[in-house]
Amino acid sequence: MFAYKASAQQGTRMFRAKILSKCAFRRKMSSRLVLGIETSCDETGAAVMDETGLILGESLHSQKEVHMKTGGIIPTVAQRLHRENIGRVVQEAMERSGVTQSQLSAVATTVKPGLALSLGIGLHFSLNFVKLHQKPFIPIHHMEAHALTVRMLQPVVFPFLVLLVSGGHSLLALARGIDDFLLLGQTLDEAPGDTMDKVARRLSLIKHPKCSMISGGQAIEILARDGDRLKFLFKPPMGAHYDCNFSFAGLRNQVTMSIQKKEEEEGVEQGTLLSCVNDIAAATQHTVASHIAKRTHRAILFCKAKDLLPSCNPTLVVSGGVASNQYIRKILKIVTDTTGLHLLCPPSKFCTDNGVMIAWNGVERLREGKGILSHTEEVNYEPKIQVST
Ligand code: KG4
Ligand code: ZN
Repeated sequence: MFAYKASAQQGTRMFRAKILSKCAFRRKMSSRLVLGIETSCDETGAAVMDETGLILGESLHSQKEVHMKTGGIIPTVAQRLHRENIGRVVQEAMERSGVTQSQLSAVATTVKPGLALSLGIGLHFSLNFVKLHQKPFIPIHHMEAHALTVRMLQPVVFPFLVLLVSGGHSLLALARGIDDFLLLGQTLDEAPGDTMDKVARRLSLIKHPKCSMISGGQAIEILARDGDRLKFLFKPPMGAHYDCNFSFAGLRNQVTMSIQKKEEEEGVEQGTLLSCVNDIAAATQHTVASHIAKRTHRAILFCKAKDLLPSCNPTLVVSGGVASNQYIRKILKIVTDTTGLHLLCPPSKFCTDNGVMIAWNGVERLREGKGILSHTEEVNYEPKIQVST
């Protein structure tokens, strides 16, 4: 299990336009309001949301550009950037919402899993905030928030199968309630976003005119569009493992060796853009996608065999940064079409980290009265995910 156990209340609200009409303004005043704060990795995010899932105000500061220049996230740098930006980001979200601190019903903040130094900034800020304004606090599990985001956008009934693929995680779980997840599989080494970020770095894609300001995963997706995946044949991971776990480190090793070989063939130094970056990107993306698809297919078959999904409209929800990859979505659609599942992916901006998903998780918990703390002395962050299978 991801962690907990629990119940099912169906979300029935639709995502709405962000412009606050007079009617929405009136409703805002009668609905409970949650401030959500996210700082688990390299995005400082905040959002104010009402109980129906209406986003009243949001702000997001991405550190990606800085980390790309240093070739990866340096935790102390991430911490400093969160510290420098969190006050402004929360203030912006509050101002845009037109909500005052006293009107908030609760503050929800990511406390696990993530980078310790980053989580610490969000938690420290939030605890001061709730103390100052005398508000309840809702600690949020980052992966739970990714899994539930889709319910902010459309009604999705529990139980549903969820695939979370990001820079830090790769997991398949059966979502049985807002805080009840049965873990079916997870990565044994690194996450697919991490693998693509590292491949992008090894290929020095930051020097590519199309890729200088974007994440490694996005760069791989863009370059792959003009590549021939058949020019590099990477062995699919875990062919002989009959479970739902993932592994991407071996694939990264294969890609790195191919890059080295090409550099030798072309007589160029590491750090030079290779002529075949598009083909390497295409082959990497395809191997990542087909591994994810195979493990997801196995999880679907397992759920079907054990009768774990509803017969009416069984659903696969895919979220996390890597879920914004259209190629991966397309392959997953083939899997869901052939197994009779309905595939749901939030729009890209809600797949990557943001304050909105944390506020929504806070709303879901507020509605069910779960995990709402009025005393915060014992609250701490947990960098590592707590799982038991
Ligand atoms: O969920 P997220 O914003 O942060 C984590 O919780 O990790 O995911 C970030 C990850 C990064 O590794 C990034 O390279 C990857 O998601 N990513 C993508 C795409 N957009 C972001 N990977 C593949 N294709 C994309 N389009
Ligand atoms: Zn995430």
